[in-house]
Amino acid sequence: MSRVLLIGNGAREHAIASALKRSGVEILAHMDRLNPGIAEVADETSIGSTIDYTKLPMDLRGIDYAVIGPELPLEHGISDFLESQGVPCVAPSQAAAKIETSKAFARRMLEKVYPSANPEYAIIRSVHALREFEEKIGFERVVVKPDGLTGGKGVKVFGEHLNTRRELEKYATSLLANHGIVILEEKLEGTEFTVQAFVDGKNFATMPLVRDYKRAHDGDTGPNTGSMGSYSRETHTLDYVDDRDMEIAEDIIATVVKRFKRFSSKIYKGILYGQFMKTSEGIKVIEFNARFGDPEAMNVLSILSSSFDEVCLSIIDGNLTTPEFDSDATVCIYVVPEGYPGKDVVSDWPIEVDPGITSEVYYGSVYEKEGKIFTTGSRALGILGKGATVADARDRAYEDAHKIRGRIRYRKDIAGEV
Ligand code: AMP
Ligand code: GLY
Repeated sequence: MSRVLLIGNGAREHAIASALKRSGVEILAHMDRLNPGIAEVADETSIGSTIDYTKLPMDLRGIDYAVIGPELPLEHGISDFLESQGVPCVAPSQAAAKIETSKAFARRMLEKVYPSANPEYAIIRSVHALREFEEKIGFERVVVKPDGLTGGKGVKVFGEHLNTRRELEKYATSLLANHGIVILEEKLEGTEFTVQAFVDGKNFATMPLVRDYKRAHDGDTGPNTGSMGSYSRETHTLDYVDDRDMEIAEDIIATVVKRFKRFSSKIYKGILYGQFMKTSEGIKVIEFNARFGDPEAMNVLSILSSSFDEVCLSIIDGNLTTPEFDSDATVCIYVVPEGYPGKDVVSDWPIEVDPGITSEVYYGSVYEKEGKIFTTGSRALGILGKGATVADARDRAYEDAHKIRGRIRYRKDIAGEV
């Protein structure tokens, strides 16, 4: 039986823990804050920093491998440390994780290996360069991105989050002042889709496609969040993504995996998450992540029919097996505290999960006190409905989301246009 170290404490890691458990492994879960859902599934838990890996409390001898859920520990080099201690990781090295942790790195890499998947962009270090890009593209077509990690909340799109040239320049210059560097991109128009892949350094295997909803409010309005929900279809594809689109997305992933080492001196292994947009000018990359998506992990891992343990072992061995998934549709509704993602978010309020709920409930940013579940300021519960069709899965997920009591809210239109 594999003994597996799982790092992280969100709903994504709860989904990872559940899939690992189904494959019969022993789980040691290390979390910044105790996640009651993971605690129920894991064999052992420890609480402490997931970033300061020198303080990991467990004996690393006898651990067969580690699965790293979130990006922050990767940015801090946890996988390099664990591997140096003899614990192989289902995750990229710190250097390879730059595909997510530095948007400038990701754009430059694509520029070398697959330029047609990049939008027009500029990596700028001065107001002068900002003005040049505005002249070239038109200020009303600019997207502003910080270089580092921002939990999905730092990207601002003209016409959505920035409404005047003044606002655009104010935001870009504040980022320049703080970080010295800003990524500017041409605003792409189209529909997004997520392709997650298992990668063993050479080979990759894609998972069912997922549509993710990043905006805070119905109708895809409001600020970007970590995501408010997602769906996948029983066919593992999406209506608006045809075979040719998927071929291109897979070709982009294949090329990145194959040429990664030449570009960064490290191989890429673990999970590669590609956020793509289907535009009138073809398939473009919005971003890469170095880990499962949250909530996309819930969509795909809840229908993984192969042993997740075997998939992880094959990633580590560099001999990837092709995983299989059930032909179910999934809809994930993220239940968040009132006010999320604003400053006046309601935290430390109790929520009640009706025991009659039949959907899978993945615990996110919540904690347990005296037998009750409390919100923090972030996404609280992922309600994952499964069904023969998206409509079935959606009905089930919403029926159960309605049964969550507390000062919470959720989007009402996830998978609504299907
Ligand atoms: P990111 O963190 O880079 O995934 O950006 C968050 C969200 O901002 C994406 O899911 C898109 O909806 C939007 N976005 C990012 N880059 C662009 C772009 N170049 N054009 C249009 N929308 C974008
Ligand atoms: N669902 C978006 C992310 O995980 O980054």
